[in-house]
Amino acid sequence: MSLAKKEFKKVTTHSLQQMKDQGEKISMLTAYDYTMAKMVDAAGVDCILVGDSASNVMAGHETTLPITLDQMIYHASSVIRAVDRALVVVDLPFGTYQGDSKQALNSAIRVMKESGGHAVKLEGGVEIIEGIKRILTAGIPVMGHLGLTPQSIYKFGTYSVRAKEDAEAQKLLEDAKALEEAGCFGIVLEKVPAELAKKVSDALTIPVIGIGAGAGVDGQVLVFHDLVGMTHQFHPRFLRRYLNLYDEITGAIGQYVQDVKDVDFPNESESYTS
Ligand code: KIV
Repeated sequence: MSLAKKEFKKVTTHSLQQMKDQGEKISMLTAYDYTMAKMVDAAGVDCILVGDSASNVMAGHETTLPITLDQMIYHASSVIRAVDRALVVVDLPFGTYQGDSKQALNSAIRVMKESGGHAVKLEGGVEIIEGIKRILTAGIPVMGHLGLTPQSIYKFGTYSVRAKEDAEAQKLLEDAKALEEAGCFGIVLEKVPAELAKKVSDALTIPVIGIGAGAGVDGQVLVFHDLVGMTHQFHPRFLRRYLNLYDEITGAIGQYVQDVKDVDFPNESESYTS
């Protein structure tokens, strides 16, 4: 069992900081509903992300842009009801914080009040710093998100690796420092070269959690459906699949269909007597 699992009955932003300080890597995984979150929490994940990737994996949208604040609150409150130990971070969805700092604060307050989440995550650097500062003034912990920021997919044009060029790498480093200075408790770094991610992690005192950012950061995050192989047409280099649930589940359901057709299910022991 990890040091963290023994020490922290409930993971807080301070526990994550202690993990970085003690050199223990942080585990983070998404969850979007009660049953999923029960398993993720029971398995000892330190931090659960109610990601706006729910827009893709739960609702079937092509991007994260359509999901609403109400929908994020619904997902987050289901997760919160399941969790005993993990810190639960909730994504502020596209269009709910970029307008101005008052909008950002109002959205973050709604998440905290209506879902019971423990912290919020926002995508972007210096361009959203006023919103981040305003949220922090209300005592709401904020996590940043840099590198590939899927809410900006139409600006990037592709989901390929970010910050390969010096200018973008330099901007990313400056953004990361600005987020730390503003008071963020951590940063997600998505799909950037491993050397750059390590440089960012070394330059910051707060934890940097990577996805497609190599092993030199302070922790890792994945999307639940990818880790367990429920998604099967998505093969990014960074993804390690621990199960192949798509095949397992479709196989089991196919067997059920066959059993019904063959009048094999239900059998006598699966039926009630008078
Ligand atoms: O929404 C999400 O799942 C995320 C992770 C990919 C970090 O932001």
